[in-house]
Amino acid sequence: MFDFSNRKIYCIITDRKKGIKMISKPKGTVDLTDKLARTWKYVEEVIDSCMEKYNYNYIRTPIFESTELFHRGIGDSTDIVTKETYDFKDRGDRSITLRPEGTAGVVRSYIENKMYGTHNLPVKVYYNGTMYRYERPGKGRYRELSQYGVEVMGSSDPMMDAEVISLAYNINKMLGLTDTVVHINSLGDKESRDKYREALKEYFKPHLDDLCDDCKERFVKNPLRIIDCKVDSNKDYFKDAPNILDYLNVESKEHFDKVCEYLDLLEVKYEIDPKIVRGLDYYNHTVFELCTLNNNLALGGGGRYNNLVSMLGGPKTPCVGYAVGLDRLVDEIISRDIDNVRDDIDAFIMYVNEDEKKNAIYLANELRMSGFVVETEYTKRSLKSQFKRADYFNSKYLILLNSDDLNEGLITIKNNKTKEEEKIMMEYIIYYFDEHISDDNLSIEADFHNHEEGCDCDE
Ligand code: HAM
Repeated sequence: MFDFSNRKIYCIITDRKKGIKMISKPKGTVDLTDKLARTWKYVEEVIDSCMEKYNYNYIRTPIFESTELFHRGIGDSTDIVTKETYDFKDRGDRSITLRPEGTAGVVRSYIENKMYGTHNLPVKVYYNGTMYRYERPGKGRYRELSQYGVEVMGSSDPMMDAEVISLAYNINKMLGLTDTVVHINSLGDKESRDKYREALKEYFKPHLDDLCDDCKERFVKNPLRIIDCKVDSNKDYFKDAPNILDYLNVESKEHFDKVCEYLDLLEVKYEIDPKIVRGLDYYNHTVFELCTLNNNLALGGGGRYNNLVSMLGGPKTPCVGYAVGLDRLVDEIISRDIDNVRDDIDAFIMYVNEDEKKNAIYLANELRMSGFVVETEYTKRSLKSQFKRADYFNSKYLILLNSDDLNEGLITIKNNKTKEEEKIMMEYIIYYFDEHISDDNLSIEADFHNHEEGCDCDE
């Protein structure tokens, strides 16, 4: 009889000899490691703390939803829905889509959980999670991307648009992106947009043959999107194309003027940009994008969407929100070296024998529980290698344990910068670090709070 179990083992051994093929991450995805991961966590902390102050509640909705939600919510003719979604049938033959954005899911949840009935309006929520778009990957463009965003449901007041825009702007400012400018526009209400759409069709009709294939399709399905076409918009005749702001009716104009007035009051830097039309169908009135001077990709975008809740089966509810791409935001912060991320530890505890090791385990625990960042040795390295590892972590202090000293209750502390050494009683270590390290840590926290309070360090 042939022994299959032996054959299996044999295969693995031969595979190892040949070298087992490495599996790479899928195209358009990233691994968050080291500095990228630390900066990412820091950015999330700033976002969470800011959301708390503005009283936005955290919400988490599923990463996959029924395909129909995005077709109805985002729009059948949008690039996102026609070209970029990850769709599949699950084992129960249901059409499922990995969410390409967060708004449709939040609105679905608002309706399904009858938030309009149980909360005082407006409901203010924020989220942070991965989205999936089958785009051509490149710098700042991924297939698995992360967004943080806010959605406010239940207020049509222009004050709400201004709060949402200034929240996005202030988070950027706290993160050190003081050159953020909000590009803002109004798409008006349905009446204004219908008039504008007709004017656009009239204007572009003689140029139809010259437009790119996508714009030819947009001409029929959504002429507004011709305005921000990356291929065509530099053509000469685009300069004189109708401007949406000239087509706003009285109410739409009043709404937009008020938003701008409140943004002035909140000292948000903004530019009115009639080219901002956005790539999702649910917007009306205010639309905006967040830009910085040295990045030609928008860091975020959003706007008002007063009809989405009713389109998805809920009661008529005016809404406004935005989302910022965390991948782009973190890349931008890292490229400017303004991350404010701690890249050192407080102490590295060094030892050689078992008796010293027990003291190291005990001491590391005591210090960590008192709030200090502490590392020690886990793989029986020589003392020389432990010094190298302490340097790798930029340890401020080294704690050197040796049995003779420990018998007398003593430990050696070395300042890794000045190289000064002293022996102290082990039981005083917390007081020692409170005196020597806490001040440094407090000044880092103070820096951080200054940013939070909106100090314009670069201005
Ligand atoms: P969006 O403009 O499609 O809006 O996306 C918002 C942000 O997500 C973009 O500005 C960008 O930073 C980031 N982003 C989009 N696609 C990619 C990608 N392939 N790779 C990396 N980052 C990307 C929305 O998603 C709306 N849901 C925003 C909103 C919320 N409107 C109202 N409420």
